[in-house]
Amino acid sequence: MQGRTVLLVIGGGIAAYKSLTLIRELKREGCRVVPVLTRAAEEFVTPLSVAALAGEEVHRDLFDLTREAQMGHIQLSRDADLVVVVPATADLMAKMAGGHADDLASTLLMATDKRVLVAPAMNVRMWTHPATQRNLATLKADGILTVGPDEGDMACGEFGPGRAAEPEAIVAAIRDALDPQRPSPLLLGPEVAARPLAGRHVIVTSGPTREPIDPVRYISNHSSGAQGTAIAAALRDLGARVSFVTGPATVAPPDGVDVIRIQTAAEMRDAVDAALPADAAVMAAAVADWRVANASDQKMKKSRDGMPVLQFAENPDILAWVSGLADRRPDLVVGFAAETNDVVANATAKRLRKGCDWIVANDVSPETGTFGGESNTVTLISEAGAESWPRMGKDEVARKLAGRIAEAL
Ligand code: PMT
Repeated sequence: MQGRTVLLVIGGGIAAYKSLTLIRELKREGCRVVPVLTRAAEEFVTPLSVAALAGEEVHRDLFDLTREAQMGHIQLSRDADLVVVVPATADLMAKMAGGHADDLASTLLMATDKRVLVAPAMNVRMWTHPATQRNLATLKADGILTVGPDEGDMACGEFGPGRAAEPEAIVAAIRDALDPQRPSPLLLGPEVAARPLAGRHVIVTSGPTREPIDPVRYISNHSSGAQGTAIAAALRDLGARVSFVTGPATVAPPDGVDVIRIQTAAEMRDAVDAALPADAAVMAAAVADWRVANASDQKMKKSRDGMPVLQFAENPDILAWVSGLADRRPDLVVGFAAETNDVVANATAKRLRKGCDWIVANDVSPETGTFGGESNTVTLISEAGAESWPRMGKDEVARKLAGRIAEAL
């Protein structure tokens, strides 16, 4: 870290005191630390102590005229090798996720062409609040690096996740982030080309649905969510904001996407509805075509009078519904077709019937191991025709498909 410059944004939270230790540790490692204080941070640490430890002028004001004549905030953000935010409060994270630029800290975070590392710290309820988690997902999707928060006793007397990472952990994260071997995930500068979906929103459905028979039994299928998860991760890696609507899959959802968990097809439809509008939708979920119309709200009992008779009702077809939307239809709608015979012919007919732009046909006959397996053999079908891809890992299918989506958008 010798000779590198860290632009340290100190946010207004109790954990601001940790930034003082951090400055000392970074200086010991030979780093230059240029401090920026938000107005709220000044309530927790004094500019004088920060300046004394850093041995640098403390920057506080966006409208410092001398500096602004030279576009000081741009310069500040570009001269550093890394921008670090400690503590990243709920408010600062929200500003970053929303692209606000109404003070020096938020403006230089918007203007930087360098990597940004944030160390979130806040009350446990603020941390687990859906708004903060949404903002976190957006920041991750934008390529912002994070360290912490830790779990433990908090200054407010509560216990849980939300404590700022310890300075040693932040120093370790800074060391990693300064490593030139790790390609920068930021969207700016020449790296834009590597993130062609930056600023785009894509909805991905994944996994099976579960249709209840009674409170303890359900109808479902073998989808593991592996293919949908890989697609969401690949789209995220290309810079997209991903709303990931998933049934009860066995594969964990990827980091850096908005995860919306559902059980039934009706819930999946509602979740997709709430996530719209989007630039693209990829429907990789294995949605139950039918639900039990006479599901019982009590556990069904064995009876001498005979077997229970299940009646079925048709589920909403989410793919057909999205494809047919007049006002909110995504520019590109991609369906999947799980077939066990006449794969390409059936999938071609399905694309036309459901009205999507592309359909990815895959053979899910048991001997292929597609359901739950790690690889897939697919044919991408569009108006232009059918293109068969060789058998490959689901990750590779996902990356190839994400690349095609980026080209199309
Ligand atoms: O999850 P994995 O184990 O990795 O397996 C991946 C997969 C085989 C599940 C996946 O690649 C796949 O093929 N997903 C679609 C499965 C499916 O339900 O196919 P379908 O032919 O029944 O449906 C066609 C399309 O309509 C799909 O995009 C489906 O999401 C959609 N659909 C179906 C029914 C319904 N009620 N609403 C829908 O939106």
